[in-house]
Amino acid sequence: MIRETEVSVKDLIYPLFVVPGENVKHEIESLPGNYHWSIDRVMECVDEVVELGIPAVLLFGVPSYKDAVGSSGWDMNEPVQQACKLIKEKYPELVIITDVCLCEYTEHGHCGVLQNGCTVNNDETLPLLAKVAVSHAQAGADMIAPSNMMDGYVKAIREALDAAGFNHIPIMAYSAKFASAYYGPFRAAADSAPSAGDRKGYQMDPANSDEALREVSLDIEEGADIVMVKPALAFLDIVQRVHETFNRPLCVYNVSGEYAMVKAAAEKGWIDEKRIVMETMLGFKRAGAKMIITYHALDVAKWLQGK
Ligand code: PBG
Ligand code: ZN
Repeated sequence: MIRETEVSVKDLIYPLFVVPGENVKHEIESLPGNYHWSIDRVMECVDEVVELGIPAVLLFGVPSYKDAVGSSGWDMNEPVQQACKLIKEKYPELVIITDVCLCEYTEHGHCGVLQNGCTVNNDETLPLLAKVAVSHAQAGADMIAPSNMMDGYVKAIREALDAAGFNHIPIMAYSAKFASAYYGPFRAAADSAPSAGDRKGYQMDPANSDEALREVSLDIEEGADIVMVKPALAFLDIVQRVHETFNRPLCVYNVSGEYAMVKAAAEKGWIDEKRIVMETMLGFKRAGAKMIITYHALDVAKWLQGK
């Protein structure tokens, strides 16, 4: 009765990777228990998500082609757009969130287009991100989650969505996203590692906390409905500050490296996986997060239900 914090299945968002091809259910080596799904099989997983009562999925796509500007990102025949349509038809109540970035879709693997072949051109990237977001909305996405960290991205996407008749689609902004080594396993899963250079020009320096608040403040001004802190474990002070400063719906991303560490230690028998994961989820909520994106979502939902 005096417990201050609770973890509920309604807090969870499950990331899902959709890929081209047929009959693909391929375990992602660096994210054991998570899979690459082709469109014809992805409903096997979505059925389980819905059965467990998880309210939302976050879609990531591996495209069938890549180019310099990431045009497969707004191609209606690509996996993310196809998955949106399919999932929406069967489960109109399930919240479909889509990741909006270019790194999965560009051959160089950066989150925006390049100038002089090396640095990202922020302003030329904005209209392309807007195109990706609108194509997701047209396919049936309920919420757009832009992870690209370009300056002005929320405004550009908000205006494009409004102009296309999607003023009711909210934006969950990856506002305080740090340039982190914790994304390693994801980049292998999404085939999105930069072929040269790094993301320190657009993602944040892990040393900075005040700057994170400025990033969040800008995104809220530009129209973000939900803000996010990412990664989670090493940044819970940021989560708490954002929660206390802005009191906005706040999401935390329990990223791939955080998941991989737990799975590897559990496999060795060095930790009690269930207890470690539940304690971690509780920590996110205690710090002030309202929503948790996590690769543990299916397990957490089962454990909460005593399965
Ligand atoms: C794409 C993107 C990344 C993640 C989510 N969206 C990788 C990156 O920025 O390099 C990381 C997710 C994870 O590690 O689980 N911009
Ligand atoms: Zn990216």
